Amino acid sequence: MNQDEMKKAVAEAALEYVEAGTVIGIGTGTTANYFIDALAAIKHRINGTVASSVASARRLESHGIEVLDLNMVDEISVYIDGADETTRHLQLIKGGGGALTREKIVAAASRKFVCIADESKLVDILGTFPLPIEVIPMARSYVARELVKLGGEPVLREGFTTDNGNIILDIHGLQIMEPAKLEAQINNIAGVVTNGLFAIRPADVLLLGTAKGVTTLT
Ligand code: 5RP
Repeated sequence: MNQDEMKKAVAEAALEYVEAGTVIGIGTGTTANYFIDALAAIKHRINGTVASSVASARRLESHGIEVLDLNMVDEISVYIDGADETTRHLQLIKGGGGALTREKIVAAASRKFVCIADESKLVDILGTFPLPIEVIPMARSYVARELVKLGGEPVLREGFTTDNGNIILDIHGLQIMEPAKLEAQINNIAGVVTNGLFAIRPADVLLLGTAKGVTTLT
């Protein structure tokens, strides 16, 4: 299986976690797109979706899948999304597509978080993938200086604005030994909206695409 086939395989395996008669949280990215496409076949079984980005909402709607406002929803049974890096402890770096804030909100509002990823995303230590930080534009320089103090090299994602109207700083050069501690530290910098570490609330299940098939880690 090549990488795309692995992404498709984990996306299809995630259908098993879709509970009939509930609302499903939907991530962002190429792996999440495969999940959206697979979900279309069983759309009549669910009560709608909450999307983590404008792009995913558009793709859901193109399949005739209902997209709901999170404020109108009491409970999301499961959130299905990809990752840029994952450890065996299901702590993640996300935000390669810049949707990290809404992803974190929908994950937090969901009973269960199922991460779908191909094996290239599995790492021992998080940080080789530059850690995305969503920042209020006026705080860009201040936040960048604070991130340097934490040992990183922040780089502005040029020409990119998030769905929330903010900028992204990608932090290079980190070896993240204590992901939950760093997640909390970065959250405490004034001007930071969200960081791409999902460690305080990691995934509950990881469906990992390998050459031999889909492996489940919990
Ligand atoms: C978007 C994300 C994605 O989940 C992450 O970038 C993985 O993307 P892909 O499935 O395309 O490899 O966090 O903000």
